[in-house]
Amino acid sequence: MMDNIILIGFMGSGKSTVGIRLSYRLRRAMEDTDKLIEKEEGRTISEIFAADGENYFRELETACLKKLLRTMKHKIISTGGGLPIREENHALLKKLGTVVYLRAEAETIYERVKHDTSRPLLQGENPKEKIRKLLKERVSVYEMAADIVIDVDHKDFDTILDEIEKAVSE
Ligand code: S3P
Repeated sequence: MMDNIILIGFMGSGKSTVGIRLSYRLRRAMEDTDKLIEKEEGRTISEIFAADGENYFRELETACLKKLLRTMKHKIISTGGGLPIREENHALLKKLGTVVYLRAEAETIYERVKHDTSRPLLQGENPKEKIRKLLKERVSVYEMAADIVIDVDHKDFDTILDEIEKAVSE
């Protein structure tokens, strides 16, 4: 197993922000699968979804994980919220390092993403309902993929970082 710390969780659970702060605190570089995919493809996630669909994007996520396994050591890696959906990705995540699930309730998520237009799965009518439905489908998937679960609702970032730091060092 490699010694990366990988953050998983629903859109808006704070993976990117927690990842950046954790990378400062632990003095490790940070990577983000969405950003790596956008760079490699030369287009945004929304453009990929619109032109080639979600399945194609999921293929790119698995390919990205495989690439990370060949190259990444001692990093903080933030992932797209749907990356753990594919079961084959679980083994890849575990090989990559310690998997930390940032668990958030639908209300917390809605408050964080309500003005966002960059997430194709939450656009259109009734985003609150979409969040509830998707979250319900995914919670057990995240829990299965995770080594560590951190509840993030109503906590400030320092508290979340303290909890992650403690859990990964145990
Ligand atoms: C997705 C989450 C997004 C991005 C894409 C699909 C999902 O990443 O990968 O829009 O299926 O949950 P974030 O979790 O960083 O928003």
